[in-house]
Amino acid sequence: MSLFLGLVGNPIQHSRSPWIHHYFLKQVSIDGGYHLFQLNEDEFEQGMKALKLLKIDGFNVTVPYKEKVIPFLNELTPIAERVGAVNTVIHRDGKWIGHNTDGEGFLESLWQSYSQVTKDSKVLLLGAGGAARGIYGALIHHHFSKVDIANRSVGKIESLVEMKNKSTETELLTLGEAEEKVGEYDVIIQTTSVGMGKDSKDQIISLKNVNQNSVVCDIVYQPLETAFLKEAKFHGAHILTGHGMLIHQAALAFEQWTGKKVDATPLTKELESILRGE
Ligand code: ATR
Repeated sequence: MSLFLGLVGNPIQHSRSPWIHHYFLKQVSIDGGYHLFQLNEDEFEQGMKALKLLKIDGFNVTVPYKEKVIPFLNELTPIAERVGAVNTVIHRDGKWIGHNTDGEGFLESLWQSYSQVTKDSKVLLLGAGGAARGIYGALIHHHFSKVDIANRSVGKIESLVEMKNKSTETELLTLGEAEEKVGEYDVIIQTTSVGMGKDSKDQIISLKNVNQNSVVCDIVYQPLETAFLKEAKFHGAHILTGHGMLIHQAALAFEQWTGKKVDATPLTKELESILRGE
């Protein structure tokens, strides 16, 4: 039996997901293919119907359909329900189940490099968009006790904080306040697209007050070392680049589809070399 997998989104022609999932299929010796389905908004409903008829075994969902896919699903996992967005659809017993591996993928990438991070580490989340929702959802799921959020506009943070439960305390900050207080956090996570692009010098906040023991993370992986991470390094802090999250969220989706655990380390290293232009 050949496994039929894919990605739905727009634009996706430069997606690295086929490369990642073909690598995983080979690693666990499963025959199959991962296909790109670039759909315009007016084609989305037809596209979903076609994938159902074709009995796709599983697929990823990316921008702009992570929320729009929900009405086409039979169930949501608790994490997808909490986050309100789906990046992975699992076909099980004739049902489509929506799941979200973005936040968990980020945490796996973080723990792989920095196992000293625990639920008692103080976290600062920068940004309040889709990526921040996934990561905040995973931090809450793992009962992180202190996760503050800073965003340019306050309205968006308020809707993010609605996800919170009793075990997590969250303070809402302006970007200016975050810049002042950044030294108080053990883990700082940049979740916006600010700094994306080969020659970008943009930074969401300055890190002049960062603590040397902190881990500074950026989910942007092009460039691999953003201006934000370069400044963190300059001040002696630890850094986490964004490509690990990409590989780990894919590995977690693959495990849901196949029931097989994969080793994400070789591919993470290979992607790092590619992104460094080696
Ligand atoms: P995504 O789904 O990729 O996270 P999004 O939902 O559009 O994208 O969210 C983008 C995030 O980046 C938001 O937190 C946005 O801040 P606002 O809520 O104030 O718009 C943030 N963002 C984008 N450009 C920014 C900039 N130049 N400076 C600061 N924050 C920025």
